[in-house]
Amino acid sequence: MMKLFSNPASPYVRKVLVFAAEAGIADRLVTVPVTVLPTATTTDVTADNPLAKIPTLVLESGESLFDSRVIIEYLATLTPDHRLLPVSGPERFRVLRAQALADGLLDAALLARYETFLRPENLRWPDWVAAQMGKIDRALDHFATLPLATGDDLTLVEITLGSALGYLDFRFPGFDWRTTRPGLAAFFAAISQRPSFTATVPPAA
Ligand code: BEZ
Repeated sequence: MMKLFSNPASPYVRKVLVFAAEAGIADRLVTVPVTVLPTATTTDVTADNPLAKIPTLVLESGESLFDSRVIIEYLATLTPDHRLLPVSGPERFRVLRAQALADGLLDAALLARYETFLRPENLRWPDWVAAQMGKIDRALDHFATLPLATGDDLTLVEITLGSALGYLDFRFPGFDWRTTRPGLAAFFAAISQRPSFTATVPPAA
């Protein structure tokens, strides 16, 4: 059994778990819950990932893989069905580009979250948060222009975007990303019904 260091609040972990479920290989992973904070080292993970970050996947051989993109590339090799992550051609790069955009949206969300939640109040920098929220807004505007699947034709694009939108609702409940993007709101409502997403909803904040 492969071991996935994880935390149910992490959108990057969610992305990996949803991918594994959609690829039909979730039963090959066991999750090992760890607590992570950017201001403290998660010692449980350092032996397998010097960055002490999650998700980190430990293979049956004892070798480890990180980050979520590398883990997903690996999981994709365990199934003959390459529908979620095409192996070559323009479609592969369409998927990888959109994954990078949704991951970048999440990176900005995490930086904004740390600035508003973790950093001592007198040290907070509003321009920093505004710049991160600008990245999030522009990425969402871009996704609102894309055709998105919510059925069995979904790909890593929808898996990553769905995990990112779930994180925005989880940690930024006051951020109204839906009103100006009704198509994206409908996408998220639909994809949230899939068993892979219902099984990985972040815990109550
Ligand atoms: C969070 O609590 O927001 C969080 C936890 C783990 C990874 C990323 C985010």
